[in-house]
Amino acid sequence: MERERTLVLLKPDAVQRRLVGEIIRRIEQKNLDIVALKMIRIDQKLAETHYEEHREKPFFRELIDFITAGPVVALVVEGPDAVSVVRRMMGATNPFQAEPGTIRGDFGLDLTANLIHGSDSVESAKIEIRRFFQPEEILA
Ligand code: RTP
Ligand code: MG
Repeated sequence: MERERTLVLLKPDAVQRRLVGEIIRRIEQKNLDIVALKMIRIDQKLAETHYEEHREKPFFRELIDFITAGPVVALVVEGPDAVSVVRRMMGATNPFQAEPGTIRGDFGLDLTANLIHGSDSVESAKIEIRRFFQPEEILA
């Protein structure tokens, strides 16, 4: 297994619902490494860049309004196959289809407020980590 890094965002609903600890606990329990972590506010510009691929989708505005609505916790998570391991721990995008045992499956019931983002490939992880963190913020 290749060692990879992935960008994780605990979305505003995770912060508001006090699920930050629970989700980080799962990441740690899986024995992944947290190599950077901070709480931030995502502004309009950063949100639109991050979700650029969805600009033409009907849900784009709702998505931008949601992700900018409150603080999020951003992490860089590292480990063997970290990109796909984190995606599997998150569960399906739609919490109604997400399997029990996954983060969205256990805690989510809303397609927009689905608690967590994880990069969808090693290539997008590299871009997203650079977008959210300065190199000197990655400490491990
Ligand atoms: P994310 O980018 O947030 O990690 O989620 P994802 O890869 O699982 O899903 P993606 O297809 O990239 O969609 C980004 C976010 O858009 C919202 N969404 N709404 N109303 C809809 O049909 C719809 N489809 C997607 C979700 O909040 C999803 O996380
Ligand atoms: Mg995505």
